[in-house]
Amino acid sequence: MAEDLKVGILGAGMMGAEIALCFAARGYPVIMNDISLELAQRGKERLQVVFDKAVRKGIFQQEEKESTLAQITPTDHYAMLGDVDLVIEAVVEDFDTKKKTFHELDNVCNPGCVFATNTSSIPITRLATCVASERKAKFIGAHFFSPASVMQLVEVIPGLETGEETVTFMMDCCQRIGKTPIRVKDVTGFVVNRILNAMWVEAARLLDEGVASAKDIDTGCRLGLGHPIGPFALMDLTSNDLNLKVQEILFESYGERFRPMPILKQKVFANHLGRKTGRGWFDYKG
Ligand SMILES: NC(=O)c1ccc[n+]([C@@H]2O[C@H](COP(=O)([O-])OP(=O)(O)OC[C@H]3O[C@@H](n4cnc5c(N)ncnc54)[C@H](O)[C@@H]3O)[C@@H](O)[C@H]2O)c1
Repeated sequence: MAEDLKVGILGAGMMGAEIALCFAARGYPVIMNDISLELAQRGKERLQVVFDKAVRKGIFQQEEKESTLAQITPTDHYAMLGDVDLVIEAVVEDFDTKKKTFHELDNVCNPGCVFATNTSSIPITRLATCVASERKAKFIGAHFFSPASVMQLVEVIPGLETGEETVTFMMDCCQRIGKTPIRVKDVTGFVVNRILNAMWVEAARLLDEGVASAKDIDTGCRLGLGHPIGPFALMDLTSNDLNLKVQEILFESYGERFRPMPILKQKVFANHLGRKTGRGWFDYKG
């Protein structure tokens, strides 16, 4: 067990549970909190399958499964996070929920504990207003990518009042779990989601103009650009309702270049959300 870093994860959902796994796999004890013990335990149970998949990709060793999962303690008590060195918040993407959560945590965590948020779209500097003024220097963004057990990148985002030592600490934590951190300014969409959505808007425009089919545009990106997956197949994985929501947020911040294409809105109206509804840009039924 690596004794020098104890981690708390808030939210045992899709992102939180896999981030917990990344730390546990490197020997760090993790307390994983959700609104009920059942949800926290369910998050841990899902990791059985996640771990096996990551073994097939050569990321983890099968024989380490038991000891890795044993490092994760599910809970619904914030008090259990009293002695952690780092909290990574991955609760639902809603400002008021995150605010309430950080407020509660501020009362139980050590003054030295760093608070990191995995938010995709809420400014870090705005979220930092949810903690006591003494903690603001220890508040930072740590944006993992899905699936977090596999994807190597973490965007590390200091807010206006984040201390330089907190940035160094967060970059170091990412490296300890085998991730590659990049430092990014606190702007809407950070780096990767801005690039991704600029491409998705253009892909939808090409389809709308009849320049090529969705299948051929995907083939173009895979074989011409070396992307592992085409834009339409990826949009179907992340789901079009979420894609539209993100583009609306980017449009609000940056204007025309992120205006969602009407064809994406139609997909959402028609419930063609992607793999999760069996149909999106492509058909997955059967
Ligand atoms: N899904 C992605 O691809 C992705 C990628 C990067 C970042 N994110 C961000 O990560 C965060 C989590 O996303 P997700 O996809 O894992 O969501 P999710 O809905 O799968 O999981 C959220 C979890 O938080 C729990 N929760 C809600 N309120 C809580 C509270 N007060 N205390 C403790 N737990 C609470 C929920 O019960 C749920 O289990 C969001 O901020 C999202 O924007 C998501």
